[in-house]
Amino acid sequence: MDTGLTPVKLEKEQFERISQLVYHLAGIHLHAGKQELVNARLTKRLRALGLKNFDAYMEYLESGSHQGELVAMIEAMTTNKTSFFRESQHFDYLRERILPELKARRIRIWSAGCSSGEEPYSIAIVLNEAIQNISLWDISILATDLSTRMLARARKGVYEINQLREVPAVLVSKYFTCVETNPVRRYQVNESIRRHVHFARLNLMEAWPMRGPFDLIFCRNVMIYFDKPTQGRLVNRFWKLLKPGGYLFVGHSESLTGSPHKFRYVQPAIYMK
Ligand SMILES: C[S@@+](CC[C@H](N)C(=O)[O-])C[C@H]1O[C@@H](n2cnc3c(N)ncnc32)[C@H](O)[C@@H]1O
Repeated sequence: MDTGLTPVKLEKEQFERISQLVYHLAGIHLHAGKQELVNARLTKRLRALGLKNFDAYMEYLESGSHQGELVAMIEAMTTNKTSFFRESQHFDYLRERILPELKARRIRIWSAGCSSGEEPYSIAIVLNEAIQNISLWDISILATDLSTRMLARARKGVYEINQLREVPAVLVSKYFTCVETNPVRRYQVNESIRRHVHFARLNLMEAWPMRGPFDLIFCRNVMIYFDKPTQGRLVNRFWKLLKPGGYLFVGHSESLTGSPHKFRYVQPAIYMK
């Protein structure tokens, strides 16, 4: 009897087919060490669909008539870990070096791979703190991700108290409203911050509808999932969408070394066009 608890085995050849599909659709490179993780995550998808084994799942995926499952499968492959003010040096640099130099009152920022929204909201908080009379400025932060599940969370902008531990108490009281106390305290980002952030689904491997140019692009802790050639292509596409003098922020465990690019290195994980 299938109790729903017995793990379904993902064979090596099936793992390789899945890996090819994920690479083709999302640029994500799954190395061999990920087989067990993929097995565990996709077993949940199998259960949800009532399928018995991975052959049936592959057939379902490759039939061409279940686009929704392709999205769900790719979402199951990605890690959405994020936090407010993650890699805080970037926010210090934004506040201390970039904002004081800005000449125009129009700022365009892109958070590419925004997950559940902490990154674009952190950026908007820094802008609100640093800019006097912000209502006279034209500010727009585009926040995109592959995952519709994460985007739905990001749009709500509701976070548990423990997710706000990197946000100083004074900023919590200024920019968040407690919307629930039981069983845990939850806070929603205030409209004064949310109005600057626009969420949209975008697969970085596909065509980009926006033309830019952006002052800043944050693409942090996303490129680690891509191989070097894919990273190189992406970084060059970012270059084209930035203003001259614009900045690209990547994650601290990522680096542009090894990919040919035209950016000038500024400091760890910050590059300038
Ligand atoms: C680890 S999170 C990083 C979140 C945030 N940038 C940060 O640094 O905290 C990586 C995000 O990249 C997204 N992602 C992965 N591949 C993508 C792709 N091909 N196109 C768009 N987003 C992608 C995932 O859905 C995930 O939300």
